[in-house]
Parts: sequence; structure tokens; C-alpha cells
Amino acid sequence: MNISDLQTATTRAAQLRTEINRQRYLVHVLNREEMSEAALDSLKHELFKLEEAYPELITADSPTQRVAGKPAEGFTKVQHERRMLSLNDIFDYQELPEWRERCAKLVGTERMNAAQYYAEVKLDGFAISIMYQDGVLQQAATRGDGTTGEDVTMNVRTIEAIPLNLVIQEEGLTQDIRELAQNALRGRFEVRGEVYISKADFSELNQIQKELGKPEFANPRNLAAGSMRQLDSKLTAARRLRFLAYAVPTDCGQSTHEQEHQLAKALGIPVEPNSRLCASVEHIQTFLEEWEEKRKTLPYGTDGAVANINDRALFEELGVVGKAPRGAVAFKFSAEQSTTVVRDIVLRVGRTGAITPTAVLDPVRIAGSTVSRATLHNADEIARKDIRIGDTVILQKAGDIIPEVVEVILGLRPESAQRYQFPEQLYGVPVIRREGEVAHYVDVTAVARVAEGEGEAVVVDEIFKRKLEHFASRGAMDITGLGEKVVSRLVDAGLVNSFSDLYTLTVQQLLTVEGFADLSAQNLVEAISESKMRPFQRFLFGLGIRHVGAETAVTLVGFLRDFGTPGQGMLLRELVGILRDVTLEQFTALPDIGPVVAESLYQYFNNEHEQDVLDQLINLGVVVPLQVPEQGGEGVFTGKTVVLTGTLEGYSREEAAEIIRSNGGKISSSVSSETSYVLAGDKAGSKLQKAEQLGVAVLSEDQFNAMLAKN
Ligand code: IVH
Repeated sequence: MNISDLQTATTRAAQLRTEINRQRYLVHVLNREEMSEAALDSLKHELFKLEEAYPELITADSPTQRVAGKPAEGFTKVQHERRMLSLNDIFDYQELPEWRERCAKLVGTERMNAAQYYAEVKLDGFAISIMYQDGVLQQAATRGDGTTGEDVTMNVRTIEAIPLNLVIQEEGLTQDIRELAQNALRGRFEVRGEVYISKADFSELNQIQKELGKPEFANPRNLAAGSMRQLDSKLTAARRLRFLAYAVPTDCGQSTHEQEHQLAKALGIPVEPNSRLCASVEHIQTFLEEWEEKRKTLPYGTDGAVANINDRALFEELGVVGKAPRGAVAFKFSAEQSTTVVRDIVLRVGRTGAITPTAVLDPVRIAGSTVSRATLHNADEIARKDIRIGDTVILQKAGDIIPEVVEVILGLRPESAQRYQFPEQLYGVPVIRREGEVAHYVDVTAVARVAEGEGEAVVVDEIFKRKLEHFASRGAMDITGLGEKVVSRLVDAGLVNSFSDLYTLTVQQLLTVEGFADLSAQNLVEAISESKMRPFQRFLFGLGIRHVGAETAVTLVGFLRDFGTPGQGMLLRELVGILRDVTLEQFTALPDIGPVVAESLYQYFNNEHEQDVLDQLINLGVVVPLQVPEQGGEGVFTGKTVVLTGTLEGYSREEAAEIIRSNGGKISSSVSSETSYVLAGDKAGSKLQKAEQLGVAVLSEDQFNAMLAKN
């Protein structure tokens, strides 16, 4: 939440504390989890950031001031020789340079500019400290409160990954590390790291629990922690615990954090193998981006990564603030849930006139991307979840799916928040809801694109923009460069009022539109022209006939194929002609077409205005082959790829394309070394140049005719 005044910050911090404490009570006392850990973390982080910006807000009882884990009864207490610290979390890449700047204030920009970092994947396990005396494991302790931990030596001795005796591993050892290792074997030597359970072992252990009819373990981290704190080490041994070291606090002469890893390894102690040196915070970001993606492939759970300033002296000099060193940060990988604030609810008119409400959010990182909008689907959904402007909500994103609002955190609702009312009008046009439908619609017959009043004109334009976006989209006519922004500009400029207007657009016209220059205008005109050759099923889909999706379009093509000569392709005029004669009964009889779709198709092909639109497209030479034959017929162009450019005298571009296809060739829209021929007509442009550059054979219209004659 972006907060710029103390008063708002004070209220927000108090609300956050109450909510976080309530969640703690629910989970720990009532054993009831109302909110995911990720959502709760997100609230804690917001509070932490607020207290960072306004330190006067920190109270002794704030959840951010909690010191982890008082030592439990039953284990002997161990005094740590050096405090076991924790780390400050960061959630955004932009916090990396901020961290560097904070350090630079203390030690100078120059030194920070020269600093290197050691980045490592952060294991989601349980921290322990292991003490060796003259190379022999002497004692192991939990972190406890950082100063005093619990003696878990017996349990640690059951973990096979941890050597009971340190032995120098000569393989690949350099002289400087050998010296450090020799020092480590004399006197006291401490190594710290994470005890964990692998993902595979965890699911196997849970499988066993299930078979025994016992409750399953919640997550690997809790299981690892629980296992370490067993008084009976036989139970610990059964849990298949593993260990990876991340630091050597004992001074063995190492000067960098990287050397600590190398040293541990040289002594036969495992370290996380994916750690690496980073020359700058930008390199750290690359590391983080890489592992945020690849973490799924790791055999252990991780919730983030740690960046340490590599130089030990610099790290020490930066010191400690609170319970964390300044010289290291933990970057938290984004969870699939997060919390944020709804700033506004905006309405968008779709191509059917249906209105979709969208929440405008404070930007938040979730599952690897930053999100600032979420669809609210419809009025019922808003009412059911009672989402109000100003509410703090839990946002969820699973996989690549669009983020959705899971629920409102009622404890954080501002007093002023009003229940959301769906408006009765949009741009002055009545909003209606049809019997039995969840969506609201704007009440205009946008079909004719004739607007009564000013508001209506806006709505009609909005609907048409959505239709045009759909027509140009990937699965339909696939017109590169005709996205949401360009569509909006073309319609607003009055240049495109129907699909057919696209095909008469000129470079000169486009140059009058914001954002266009020579090249972009030329490219768009070309892309539009190329779209004339899309297969019929794509064209049908692109028309945006209600209820006609890509599947239905394919069904219709199957039906039409019975009328054509296989392999030859049929032109748009014929195809449309056939469809106009189909009766409602015939549509209904088609496989996979139900009465609603049949009715919609029948209406469309009998609607005068829609048919005018189609006629215009036909007249403009939008010639859509019924089928693009995989290999086409056989002929002079078999196995050849041809690119068309310029204007031919005897053929339209589409006719030429049809001829090439029926003679076995393939049409491509761009020239590459794979191109067999470029068929160049009058005023051929950049494609001809490209062909000449690449040494691709260029055919004139005469040569083309000659090839066909030989056929
Ligand atoms: S460095 C100075 N490196 O995360 C603090 N910690 O959130 C030393 N952890 O207490 C921590 N992997 O239990 C560090 N590669 C790693 C880590 C790591 C896991 C744990 C550790 C620490 C906690 C801090």
C-alpha cells in the first residue's frame, strides 16, 4: 500500500497488527487457518515496510518485533559462541539497489561499487549450528532465540550428510582452500546450515503416515523442525533428514563468503551446489529470476534466495541492525497468494455488449509477475465476495491463470468503504440484465453501428473496438501490430468503422494517427493485406458471431468441405453463399452444434447489416481458402515456398496464392533463406530487396506464367 502521510500510516499499522495477531490466535490457539501463510506473510511485510518508513510507529508488541523460538524445556541449553542471526526479507527486485544504497551510505559508494555478492538458494528447513573440536563433532544446537539454543547433538548425529569427523577432501582442492581446511581441523570449528527433508522423502513419509492411518505432515519444513526437536533420536533417525551448510563463522583465514562454502566442501560437509558469485546487484537479479523459475526442479523446498556481500571484512563492518546483518538479504520468491488494496473498480464493455468489472489494484508481485488488475467477473461475484473500493484483498494466481480475488480481509476494511453498486447507466446508456444471465449489458443495438446520442456513440465504439481486437487476434486473422492500443486509436480517429475499412487503410492515413511512422504504417498495411489469406475457419471465428468459437468454426468448415472439390480451395463468395442458404434445421443437425449456436448462426447469416459487412469484405478481395492443403496439389511448386510482393497484372494476390497452393507450393509472408521464390509484381518493396540480399530467386509475372504453362 502506498502511504504518504503519518496519520494514514498509523491507522493502517494498527489495523495490520490487529489482523496479524488475530490470525496468529486462530492458527496457534484455535488450530484454524483462515488465511494462507503466503497471504499472512504479505501483511507482515506491509507492516514491516510501514514501520521502516515511519520508525516512530514501532511498538514493543508489534508482530515485527517477535524474537523467534524461546528454548523449549527438555533440551539442555547451549550458549552460542556467536549470535545466530536472521535475515531481512525483500520481495521486489527494486529493493536490491535500495539495499546497496543503504550499505553505500555506511561504507561509501566506491566500496559498494567494487563489492561482489555471493548468491545462494535459500533452503526451507531448520537452522542449526554444529561445533567441531579438532575435527571431531562435539555439539550441535538449534538457533533458539539467537543467543541460546537447544542441544540437539544426539539428533544431529543421526544425519548422514553431517560428518562426525572432518577429513580434508583432496579432490580438486586448491592450495589456499587446503590451508583454510588445515586451520579448521585445529581447535574449535563452527559450521551453520539448514537441516531439511527432500521433497521425495517428504511425500514418501506422508504415504507411510497415510497407510498407518495417521495424520499427514503439513509441510517439509515443519517436519524437519519437529524431527530435530525429538527427545528420542531414534525417531529423528527415521525421518531421513539431510543437511546443507551455508556459512562458516569461525575464522580459519577465509576472506570471502564464497571461500566459506569452498571450505565446508573441502571438509566433506555438503553445500548448496547452485550458489554463485555475482558481480553486481543486476547479476543477483538474474540469479533470482533464474531460480524463481527453476526452483521447481530442485529436490528440496526453497522459499527464496540469499545474497551476501562476499567480502567478509566489508560484511562485518556493515554490522547488525536488530537481529539481521546489514550485509545480507533474503529475497522471497513470490507466492501464489498475496495481499493488496483495491483502488477502484472499472467497467469494460465487451464485444457482445456485456460489461466486465475489473479491480484496479496497488501493484503487487505474485507468482513471478507484477499484477495491478484483476477481473471481478460480474456483479454477482462482487456482491458474493462483498468487494469494496478501499478493501484489502487476498489475490491468487495459480500457474499462468489470470489473478483472482480470493476474499476480502474484513479486519482491514476502511470505515468509509461502501458496498459496490453496479451502475444503472454507463456513458449515459442504460445498463440491463437479461433474465437468467449473470452479466450486465449496455442496452444498445450496436449491430448497426448507428448511435443515437453521444453516450451511445461511445458505447458503440467500445463494443466495436472489442470486436476488432478479436478479429485481429492470433487465433483469428492474426494481424501483427493490430492490438488493443492501435485498434483504439484507429477507431477513435474515425478511420476504421467496420472490418472492411481495415482493407482500404493506406499508409498516408495511418501516418495521421498517433504513434505511426513510415515503417510501422507500412508494416501494418502489409500485415492486414496478408491476413486476407487466412483459412476460412479463422475468418469465421474472427467475425465474432455469438457463441461461435474456434471449435464451431472447424465444424462448419467440415460441413462446407462437402460442397467443395477437395484440395482446390473455395473462395469467400462461394463459402458465404452456401452458409446463407443453410436453414435453422440444417445448422441444428450439424454435429456438436446445439440449438443456441444454430440460432445464432442462422440469425447472423440472415441479418442484413452483418451480410453487408461480409459483402464488403468479399468485394475487397478478402479471399479465404477453405482449406490450406497440407501439401496442396502436385505441380511446379511442389516443395517450394513462395513469397508474394507487389501488384500483379493478371491476378489478385490471393488468386496467385491459390494457384501456387494448388500447384503444390506453400505461401509464406516473409523472406528468409528458406524461401524458394519471391513472386514480384509492380511496386514491389522491401521483400524484393531482402530477396536480392539473400540471393533468393525472384520471379516476374511473365516467368510465373511461363512456369505454369509448362505444367
Ligand atoms: S544466511 C546471517 N544462507 O534462512 C544469517 N541463511 O531467513 C545467516 N537459510 O536463519 C543466514 N538457507 O536458517 C543463509 N543459504 C542460506 C540459507 C539461510 C536457509 C535460513 C537460515 C536463516 C534464515 C533466515
